[in-house]
This record gives sequence, C-alpha cells and structure tokens, in this order.
Amino acid sequence: MNVGTARGGGKLAGFMRPPPRLFALVPCAGSGVRAGGDGPKQYRPLAGQPMVAHTLAALAAVPRLAATLVVLAPDDDRFEAVVPAFAGERGWVARVGGATRAASVAAGLGALAARGAADDDWVLVHDAARCLLRPAWVEALIDACLDHPVGGLLAWPLADTLKQADAAGNVAATVDRAGKWAAQTPQMFRLGLLRSALEAAGHGVTDESAAVEALGLAPRLVAAPLENFKVTWPQDFELAGRLLRSRAAERAAAQEGA
Ligand code: C5P
Repeated sequence: MNVGTARGGGKLAGFMRPPPRLFALVPCAGSGVRAGGDGPKQYRPLAGQPMVAHTLAALAAVPRLAATLVVLAPDDDRFEAVVPAFAGERGWVARVGGATRAASVAAGLGALAARGAADDDWVLVHDAARCLLRPAWVEALIDACLDHPVGGLLAWPLADTLKQADAAGNVAATVDRAGKWAAQTPQMFRLGLLRSALEAAGHGVTDESAAVEALGLAPRLVAAPLENFKVTWPQDFELAGRLLRSRAAERAAAQEGA
C-alpha cells in the first residue's frame, strides 16, 4: 500500500498513516503599496539582502518544516535572481498569487496539495514581509499547536491604550485594551481545514485565523515579541534594517569569541 492510499482512510489505513508533516507557505505576491518606493517591498534590500531572503532563511532553519512554498505573482520575474539558492528539495515556488493575500494563500494551498501535501498535514502561513522572524518562535508555535484541535498563531499582547479614530483623525473613543492581541504570523492550521475555511470566508479576510474563526473555531494565541512586526510603512524599513544589522553583528561577535 502506498502512502497516498494509506492517507485515504479506513481502519488499516489509519493504522499505517504516517504522522502529519509540516509545511511553510509564504505569500509573496503583494505590491506593497503602503510601503511606497519602487517595486514590491519584499525585494527591497535590508542589511545586505532582499527582505524575503531573511524571511526564508529563518524558515529554512526550522528542521521540522518538510518544505517551504513561496507564492509569487504570476508575472514575477525577480525571485530566482534575488534568492538564487532557494529552490530545491525543501524550497518550492508557485506563481499563483492572486488579487488579495487570502487569494494568494488559497492558491498556494492548492499548489501544496498538488505536490502531495495531505489534508491533515499542517501549514504554517507566514508573511514574506515579516523578515525579523526567528526560528525559535516558529518552534514555539509548533510546540503549542501540534496537539491543539484547531491550530493557532503567533500574536503580540497589546501594551498600549487603544484609540478609535473618527473621520477627521480625532479620538472618537478609547477601546478597552484588556485581552487584546495583535495577530502576527506564522499561523498554523491543517491544510484541509484551512482550504475549506478560506473558501467559505472569501478572499477579503486579512489572516487565516479570521477564516477559521468564522467556522466557529477558536485558534490558540501563542505570545511572540513585537519584533516580529510586518514591514509595512516607509519608516519600518529603517527599523528592520537596524535590527537585522545588530543581529548580524551579535553573530559575528559570538563567532569571534568562540
Ligand atoms: O500587504 P500586506 O503587507 O498585508 O501583505 C502581507 C503578505 O501577503 C506580504 O508578504 C505580501 O507579499 C503578501 N500578499 C500576497 N498577495 C497579495 C497581497 C499580499 O501574497 N495579493
């Protein structure tokens, strides 16, 4: 019996079923309008490398991930030139990006399934634009979610007092910050559940969790540092570059001391 049949169901198949695998899926098909500048933000240089190369290096350093699939815009002609060492046994590329992030993720899930990922395999969806990711945070998410019935996401427990703005940019209300979290990525769900959730939610949702919540399910919140922010606004590039350069300097100092 081959693995495909074993995953099919039934008592014998259940006995022989291999443990679920883990895949990363990186939506990288945005135009980055809010970031300003020329071209998509994921290709802008930060600390000597294009932003997405930092993101993919962090995921490549997580041994439990069987492979990472990057979703590019259909007309992307830059990826292989700026990240030449990515494609291979654990690095897959699909030019199936859509008009929204959710459309890109949904198409990427289809590409993962076409490459043999099963409905009960886990998918960790991570924004190309969160280039400060550390492998240890991914490991913490996996540890927290592997035995969870739904899955979960990295998130930042909000520290600031929240204000609701009116149309003129004045404060309309203060929003109670207790129990509020800012959603980050990776967000980790079973492939089959996530495909159905995104199909039902449509392509307007801004993260995977929202689609899964709409099914009445409660993903787990896994605390992560603010440092895992999404590079979005023009001033974010300077901060992300500074943090990446200081990490590189720390690594170099540690190597010298070793
Ligand atoms: O635009 P935003 O910063 O929210 O995008 C988050 C991530 O989703 C980015 O890595 C971006 O490249 C990706 N994205 C995508 N397809 C789109 C829009 C955004 O893959 N149509």
